[in-house]
Amino acid sequence: MTRAYNFSAGPATLPETVLEQAGAELLDWHGAGASIVELSHRGPEFMQVASEAEADLRTLLSVPDDYAVLFLSGGATTQQALIPLNFAAPGQAADYVVTGHWGKTAIKQAHPYVSANVAADGEAGGFRDIPARADWRLSDDAAYVHVTANETIHGVEFRDTPDVGDVPLIADFSSSIASEPVDVSRYAMIYAGAQKNLGPVGVSVVIVRREPLERSGQPRAPIFEYARHAQSGSMLNTPPTFNWYLAGLVFKWMLAEGGVEEFARRNQRKADALYAAIDGSGGFYRNEVAPAVRSRMNVPFFLHDDGLDKAFLAEAKEAGLISLKGHRALGGMRASIYNAMPEAGVRALVGFMDEFRQRHG
Ligand SMILES: Cc1ncc(COP(=O)(O)O)c(C=O)c1O
Repeated sequence: MTRAYNFSAGPATLPETVLEQAGAELLDWHGAGASIVELSHRGPEFMQVASEAEADLRTLLSVPDDYAVLFLSGGATTQQALIPLNFAAPGQAADYVVTGHWGKTAIKQAHPYVSANVAADGEAGGFRDIPARADWRLSDDAAYVHVTANETIHGVEFRDTPDVGDVPLIADFSSSIASEPVDVSRYAMIYAGAQKNLGPVGVSVVIVRREPLERSGQPRAPIFEYARHAQSGSMLNTPPTFNWYLAGLVFKWMLAEGGVEEFARRNQRKADALYAAIDGSGGFYRNEVAPAVRSRMNVPFFLHDDGLDKAFLAEAKEAGLISLKGHRALGGMRASIYNAMPEAGVRALVGFMDEFRQRHG
């Protein structure tokens, strides 16, 4: 069996050792006589898995004690709808900074529950840059400010945490969580679907300051209430146990590899190599994002002649490099180079791109 280098944006490649361990443990988890997915979520085996995963994620991201860490079913999109229900009073305003497709999705999901103010919007510039903080038009009484830390499709990422004063800052970190250290205390809430940097699709991680949960929001069913999920240890209903378990294995792998500081170094090297190959191709390849905000996780790029796209994808696949097709909203190519993409994978891609250019340039 040969595994390809998989540049999928998500569901995305997972560390091989994690898949091997999950495979080895599938029939009989640590002598329990059953796999972890066949045991009660309230039993001692899964409770151990769950609490270790939470503790490991807290260690990885240095999560302060006054934050709850939740493992919830429903993707990041579900959180985008829950955010106004939990943080905004009926009719209250909330500010949204739109730096790509997922910022727009966040507004769409929040719309029924909040008066969404677009405080800044990069769409006129094709989402190739992040509007300068000085130009944001924040509301006076916003319940929160929402940003997308890394735009998976447009390949634009915040390099700093924006300063929004005392207003709670909420960030969608779906495609960059754990890619580098983050000061969690600057955020009221960080959320992420797991399927890019943390594990398999089907579980979302929510890191949320406990205090505002007790006093804000609007009428909502208990299952939509972050405070209740926090009180119940994310076991208000049956959680996605296999996904939680697999994410837990990824957290242990990340810690063993040296934690988020080490991944920040690797990710920077991978991104530098790929952008250098694009920028140094004499226009054969191009990435249109302003260099200061280029994503280190998702690198969209275009061939100078889109008539070559099909050949590029077919030949890349032959070379063991898969899932490079760009998102349909942009076309072209996209290489997602999350934590689990080894540096050797990026070297192989860069080598292939050079070779392809020489053959077709
Ligand atoms: C930044 C970002 N936010 C939200 C989503 C939506 O996530 P989900 O499909 O888990 O709802 C994605 C999915 O790719 C994403 O990349």
